[in-house]
Parts: sequence; C-alpha cells; structure tokens
Amino acid sequence: MAGIDGKVVAITGASSGIGEATARLLAERGASVALGARRLDRLDVIAGRLRDRGLAAITCRTDVTRSADLERLVTRTVTEFGRIDVLVNNAGISRISPMSALDTDGWSAMIDANLRGVLNGIAAAMPAFRRQGRGHFVTTVSTAGLKITPTMAVYGGVKNAVRTILEGLRQESTDGVIRTTSVSPGYVRTELAESIHDLELRERIRQNMADFAIPPEAVARTIAFAIEQPDDVEISDIVVRPTRQD
Ligand SMILES: NC(=O)c1ccc[n+]([C@@H]2O[C@H](COP(=O)([O-])OP(=O)(O)OC[C@H]3O[C@@H](n4cnc5c(N)ncnc54)[C@H](OP(=O)(O)O)[C@@H]3O)[C@@H](O)[C@H]2O)c1
Repeated sequence: MAGIDGKVVAITGASSGIGEATARLLAERGASVALGARRLDRLDVIAGRLRDRGLAAITCRTDVTRSADLERLVTRTVTEFGRIDVLVNNAGISRISPMSALDTDGWSAMIDANLRGVLNGIAAAMPAFRRQGRGHFVTTVSTAGLKITPTMAVYGGVKNAVRTILEGLRQESTDGVIRTTSVSPGYVRTELAESIHDLELRERIRQNMADFAIPPEAVARTIAFAIEQPDDVEISDIVVRPTRQD
C-alpha cells in the first residue's frame, strides 16, 4: 500500500502547530484522520472544517501522559475507520530552562509528555499494527537532540531518548510489519514557546520563531513524504530545518 489516499492516520498534538498542519494535509490528500490532544474544543473546530469539505476526520480527547487515553484514541480510530495505518506521535512540550534553574517539575513534565507519551502511543498501537500485519510509527523528534544547545539539555535529551527507542524498534521490526520514522524539525513557527515558563527565554525563542522559523506545513509535508512511501520503503530518520538555522 503506497501513497496517502485511503490511509487511516491518528495524530497526537493535533490541536495546533505541526500536528494540526499534518492532520489537514493528510486529510486533503485522502487520508482518514483521528485527531488527539487535550483541547477537544480546538480539535472539534479543526475536524469540523475538514468534514465541511467532505474529508474524513474524528476527534478524541487525548492526554498522552495517560496510557488509557492513547488506547482510547487507537480504539476509536479502528472503530470509526476499520483500522489504523499510522500513528503520528507528535504531542510535546518544551519546558526549556538552564540546568542551574533546577526546574525539576519541568523536567518531569517533558519526560511525561515527550517520552512517556511516545511509549504510551507505541504500546497502544502496536497490537493493532501486529494484528493487521502492517503499521507505521511517525514521531516528531527535534534538531535539539542533534545540536546540543544551552537551556535545551533535558528537552534535547528526552528527544534523543525517543530517537533511540524508535531506532531500537526499527531493528526489532525487520520482519516488514512495522515502519518507524523520526522527523527532526528545527525551528518551526508554532505555539511551542508557550510552554516555556522562563519569560526571557520564552521571548528569545518567540523572536527566533518570528525571525527565521519555517511554517508547520513544511514539517507536515515531510511527514507525508515518509507516509506515502511503499510499505517496503522506510524513511527512518529525517531532518527538516530552516535554511537560516545554524
Ligand atoms: N516548533 C518547533 O520549533 C519544534 C521543533 C522541533 C520539534 N518540535 C516538536 O514538535 C511537536 C509539536 O509541537 P509544535 O511545535 O507543533 O507545538 P504546539 O503548537 O505547541 O503543539 C503542541 C501540541 O502538543 C499537544 N500536547 C502537549 N501536551 C500534550 C499532552 N500531555 N497530551 C496530548 N497532547 C499534548 C498540544 O495540544 P493540547 O495542549 O491541546 O493538548 C498541541 O496540540 C512537539 O513534540 C515538539 O517538541 C517542535
């Protein structure tokens, strides 16, 4: 099965930014999409607009830190559309700060959403993928794990843990049933800076986003590129960043 048309894709963090852009692009290209995030009101508006255009979209309130929520997202997707071809584990936060700030709550929050959230997604969709004999995990990682910068030590570390897990899963899945893709974006113009508590740092990241970030649609196109490959082609690891990012 190649292409996007007819595929069933569940996306976490679909209420804004990269997840929203991905849901819209994939639906426009013929996928049936299931949108997950905590802000159900925003999901319903996005999905409603897609349905108004005759496209297939459902919503499911999902907090990725809760394994039961991911199980519900997968179950609802399969119940509504008959199967699940792709899970885009995209939800994430960026409570970045210098290590010296000892923001242990922020560290835990990033571990819970950005790492445990991905594991919860893998655990929820893996049985369906195995049952179906096919499935694809796409995960939004980050260039913060490729070029380590001050204030992003824990964020980048958590993203690299996810990259490692996806590569391990890839190596355990060479029977051809499961594909894995890590997409590492650089600066993307989204709401991500809102999760930064340090006001000065938040403003600096917002300024970088305003100055040179790429639109979330650029990452959506990258995700679509990985999904549309034939089943025997796996785009394992891909970086998409602003041309002007150092
Ligand atoms: N923007 C960048 O420069 C950039 C660069 C590299 C990687 N990334 C990664 O890209 C992914 C998407 O971020 P974005 O840039 O599109 O930012 P965004 O606009 O803030 O979107 C983040 C999404 O994640 C969801 N989310 C956060 N915590 C959640 C939770 N516990 N359960 C479920 N959903 C949750 C949010 O929805 P709710 O609040 O409604 O739950 C929202 O839909 C993240 O993993 C981020 O780390 C972003």
